[in-house]
Amino acid sequence: MTTIIDGRQLARELNAKTQQRVAQLAQRGITPGLAVIIVGTDPASSIYVRNKHKKAGQLGIRSVVRTFSPTVSQTELLAAVAEYNADPTIDGILVQSPLPAGLDERAVFDAIAPEKDVDGFHPLNTGKLFGNLPGPYPVSCTPQGIMTMLKSLHQPLAGKRAVVVGRSNIVGRPMAALLLNANLVVTVAHRYAQDLRALTKTADVLVVATGITHLIKAADVKPGAIVIDVGMDRDAQGKLTGDVDFDAVSPVAGAITPVPGGVGPMTIATLMQQTVDLCEWREQ
Ligand code: GUN
Repeated sequence: MTTIIDGRQLARELNAKTQQRVAQLAQRGITPGLAVIIVGTDPASSIYVRNKHKKAGQLGIRSVVRTFSPTVSQTELLAAVAEYNADPTIDGILVQSPLPAGLDERAVFDAIAPEKDVDGFHPLNTGKLFGNLPGPYPVSCTPQGIMTMLKSLHQPLAGKRAVVVGRSNIVGRPMAALLLNANLVVTVAHRYAQDLRALTKTADVLVVATGITHLIKAADVKPGAIVIDVGMDRDAQGKLTGDVDFDAVSPVAGAITPVPGGVGPMTIATLMQQTVDLCEWREQ
């Protein structure tokens, strides 16, 4: 029997814990604060930001969203980051990626104070992650949420073979580091891989983050593998679907995440968790 990893249910459980921690902070007169900066009106990004804002409100986190026109200058953007860096009511700062062409996204991420870097994109935090240094420090929310999903399966992971398809700074690279830190044997595949399917077929844990609709088919998956689909793709009918052909792969997999209802809800729940983490670390 294949386990369908229910991201909505796991997110509900994580959000309930976060809400309790927010309530405990409230007893000390503390409200965690999250600042979200979004540039332009990309529909997908706007939906993500709206969902983040809504979830923060439900959990008692104070969330402020600042929307800039796509013509905003780099200087104005850096000024907004500096303002939130100095604002004692803000614990976490998130700049929605991607920024429109012409803006230097890396420079903006680097300007976020590392102790407010709720995405874990600052080089100080990624450096700690890649060095497997002692925490605590924030980690990119999607891969961190995936680790929570993997742990929910209560299967030993050390020594297992993991293949991560995709090497982005937001998902693939931090995912590989987290899996390596959890003692898996990790391969990172990407568009230059010579025989991608031979690689994915060796994976006990397969994480796919490419943005290519239904890239992974049944024949590409080892029977019994744990398959994590980070894709948020639109099929020909405009329906949300993943990088994994769920209907074909789920009979082969041991456990698999659906799209929607898999990784997506856990990313937002992890963002909320890390906002409260940053607040607690600061208030200690
Ligand atoms: N765009 C897609 N995923 C993310 C994320 O986790 N954080 C930010 N800031 N932007 C994103």
